Amino acid sequence: MSTIRNIIKTILPLELKELYILKRKKSNFKKKTVKETFDLIAKDNFWSSEESVSGPGSELQHTKVLITELEKLFETHKVSSLLDLPCGDFNWMQNVDLSKLNYLGGDIVQDIIDKNKSQFEVENIKFDVMDIITSDLGRQDVVLSRDCLVHFSYSNIVKTIKNLKRSKSTYVLMTTFPGITKNKDIVSGEWRPLNFDIYPFYFPQPEVLINENYQGKEKYKSKSMALWKIRDLKIPFRLRVYCMLYKMFN
Ligand SMILES: C[S@@+](CC[C@H](N)C(=O)[O-])C[C@H]1O[C@@H](n2cnc3c(N)ncnc32)[C@H](O)[C@@H]1O
Repeated sequence: MSTIRNIIKTILPLELKELYILKRKKSNFKKKTVKETFDLIAKDNFWSSEESVSGPGSELQHTKVLITELEKLFETHKVSSLLDLPCGDFNWMQNVDLSKLNYLGGDIVQDIIDKNKSQFEVENIKFDVMDIITSDLGRQDVVLSRDCLVHFSYSNIVKTIKNLKRSKSTYVLMTTFPGITKNKDIVSGEWRPLNFDIYPFYFPQPEVLINENYQGKEKYKSKSMALWKIRDLKIPFRLRVYCMLYKMFN
């Protein structure tokens, strides 16, 4: 047993340090399921935006560029089915021209979906309660996942990527911060910026990168939406091992 421990210590020092920090961390979300966590966040308007229950990042001032660029991307990539997961309260997405595609908005919070259904559902725009980690996502042209994995532990990120692969959808369009030089693990429900180019993800160059022209702090100015073919996303061996160790210690 001690030999195995020594081998792990030698080849995975970064991973062990990360697990140790996470284990000692105090967080209100630690003992909660992902659903309980985000129900609570929505109920308390935890992200404190007056405009959107999905937080300041979902306000119109931060999403103007994205609205225009998404419309262009739908044209260039001939998108006819779009799963927006999580859709949050549809605050900015309602300004995107979705008339030429079938849009499905999903979120883990029932209350958010009920409100969206009553306010925004039409023939080609539907909403449903869905969990990006476990739900059947259907086969989509694009799964758009903005400001979601930045709230997940590495373990839940890996489960999400596996679920995206299971769906056999073509593309995922999701948040990344190419200017960030170091990633870290968190308890799901917290937030940190993530750069999918670097350790522990090492994703390939995205096919499209949309810088959102984020209006807040300088250090987050690289906030972007990146488009990858889902089949090109591989989960690196070290990240798989990290998730195994995470499971053992939690
Ligand atoms: C910061 S908001 C972003 C919403 C939207 N993408 C946007 O840009 O406005 C994060 C959303 O993720 C939802 N969420 C968290 N975990 C989820 C999961 N496992 N499956 C689906 N939605 C989830 C939360 O309820 C919340 O509405």
